[in-house]
Amino acid sequence: MRTKILNMLKNQGDCLSGEKISRELSVSRTAIWKHINALKKEGYKIEASPRRGYRLSWAPDLLIPKEISGKLDTKIFGHEIHHFSSIDTTNNEAKKIAELGCSEGTVVLAEAQYIGKGRMSRGWFSPKEKGIWMSIILKPPFSPFDAPKCTLLAAVAIVKAIKRVVNVKCDIKWPNDILYHGKKLVGILAEMSAEIERIGYIVIGMGINVNIDQNEFPPELQEIATSLLTVTGHSVSRLELLCAILSELEESYYRAIEEGFSPILDEWRQLSSTLGQNVNVIGAKLTFNGKALDIDDDGALLVETVNGIQRVIAGDVSIRPSKT
Ligand code: BTN
Repeated sequence: MRTKILNMLKNQGDCLSGEKISRELSVSRTAIWKHINALKKEGYKIEASPRRGYRLSWAPDLLIPKEISGKLDTKIFGHEIHHFSSIDTTNNEAKKIAELGCSEGTVVLAEAQYIGKGRMSRGWFSPKEKGIWMSIILKPPFSPFDAPKCTLLAAVAIVKAIKRVVNVKCDIKWPNDILYHGKKLVGILAEMSAEIERIGYIVIGMGINVNIDQNEFPPELQEIATSLLTVTGHSVSRLELLCAILSELEESYYRAIEEGFSPILDEWRQLSSTLGQNVNVIGAKLTFNGKALDIDDDGALLVETVNGIQRVIAGDVSIRPSKT
């Protein structure tokens, strides 16, 4: 009911009489008054005038289900949302939820994470209400070998959503770091539960640095990380960006199920800052230098080295500055 009242206030823009809300939602004026007070306690600024009714003058940029539902244009993704004001890591929570059984496209969101997880056992800086710290649960009908391509797909979808919402053009460092002028804006961490032939579920965790002031990053990240606030010079609506990401992700995902990954891999190639560069690869067993040539049909990076072409399926890649 509260969500419905909120959405009516948002759609109206101007004053909305208590009588109209009461008629449309078939609830008493007293019940509406109670919901309005509860919304005010949650941080919404609602002006009330006895003759003209209620007017929403300001809404907090919180990633709560009732805010998201009014803006989301997806068919499936984000229709089930688990929201936390603070949690250890959304990826672990998503895995617990997936184990208990949930629908595909279920989303776990936190305003802050206190043990945010990054790739290669690193941490992820996740300050309160400053970014999008989200995990989405997918149950793709693919073989586990196709799973890494889902993270490439997520990277492409996020780059497109950022372009759509704030008109900022980012690029992708293999496999799925999203960078702006060489600094990390978004990280993706995928975790999977699978049998030999089929995926049970994949949790795709995304950390998007939205409204983090540059000097708020810990000293070790100052030079290597960035945020949309730094890049654009203004704060960005996390809500709008989140909805755009879910929408792009849903579209790409179901397209991959129908048409295969080939179009996504092509889009990834277009957005890549890795291909054509001299790179240093830190793999599970080997570290080597070479030139990144392409990704293959499995999303593995093909690197030309003195010992021939190496196929990298997992690891960390850094771009080596070209000698002038
Ligand atoms: C990376 O190291 O590049 C991956 C970072 C992934 C961070 C996100 S934030 C939401 C989700 N929960 C986590 O603990 N990690 C991912």
